[in-house]
Amino acid sequence: MEAHPAIDVRKLGRAFTPGAWLFQGLSFQQAPGEQVALLGESGVGKSTLLNILAGLEPPDQGEVVILGQSLAALTEPQRLALRRSQIGFVFQAFHLLPHLSALQNVMVPCLLKGDPPAQAAEAAMHWLDRLGLGHRSQALPSTLSGGEQQRVAVARALVHRPALVFADEPTGNLDPVTAHQVLEALSEACRSVTATLLMVTHSLRAAALLDRQLVVRADGVHPSPDGASGQVL
Ligand SMILES: Nc1ncnc2c1ncn2[C@@H]1O[C@H](COP(=O)(O)OP(=O)(O)O)[C@@H](O)[C@H]1O
Ligand SMILES: [Mg+2]
Repeated sequence: MEAHPAIDVRKLGRAFTPGAWLFQGLSFQQAPGEQVALLGESGVGKSTLLNILAGLEPPDQGEVVILGQSLAALTEPQRLALRRSQIGFVFQAFHLLPHLSALQNVMVPCLLKGDPPAQAAEAAMHWLDRLGLGHRSQALPSTLSGGEQQRVAVARALVHRPALVFADEPTGNLDPVTAHQVLEALSEACRSVTATLLMVTHSLRAAALLDRQLVVRADGVHPSPDGASGQVL
């Protein structure tokens, strides 16, 4: 039997004002472990789409099936549990907790899942090491460079072994060289644990590092005509 897609988006529509569709008829699938770049002009609804996929807000049309599970069929506590166990996030603005060390920040998803602190610390240290930040584990975020902070955020996104990682313009605040290094680290980290990666980006160079590119438009999501700029959704 064929495995479920990791992500199955079916004719999704969102309108913050009734009748004024941000997007409509948006459909795509992602195979387990597949890495997809989501492109599209500012304001088309890329962040909104990630929020819907994470079960943080409901769509106005259509359905999202994550790991074979329809989000609409779950209760709010079940969606929270799915998010905590199966999804990791990386945001543009890092969103590290300023009063916690790098290690403590990375431990948070494990603690939220209920792992014992010693186990959480071990997993967090493992991921900081893998991202080249083992020597900075006790540092507060404010003492880290932007690239280091985002690598802490990558470690935090993967530490609880999620099946899916959502990244919303994760390198938007970094200089081009650092951005490329962080993106390679994110992609490699996801590949190493076969996590499915969906990443919003404005960088065609960044998008080209992933397996497939999709473009969000008001009327849906599509592949790029030439394969370079992505399928237009
Ligand atoms: N909660 C909300 N209520 C009303 N409008 C919203 C809300 N969230 C986003 N929007 C609007 O939806 C549009 C798409 O936003 P967003 O998903 O952030 O786009 P993108 O990430 O592609 O730049 C924007 O015009 C934004 O102002
Ligand atoms: Mg956005």
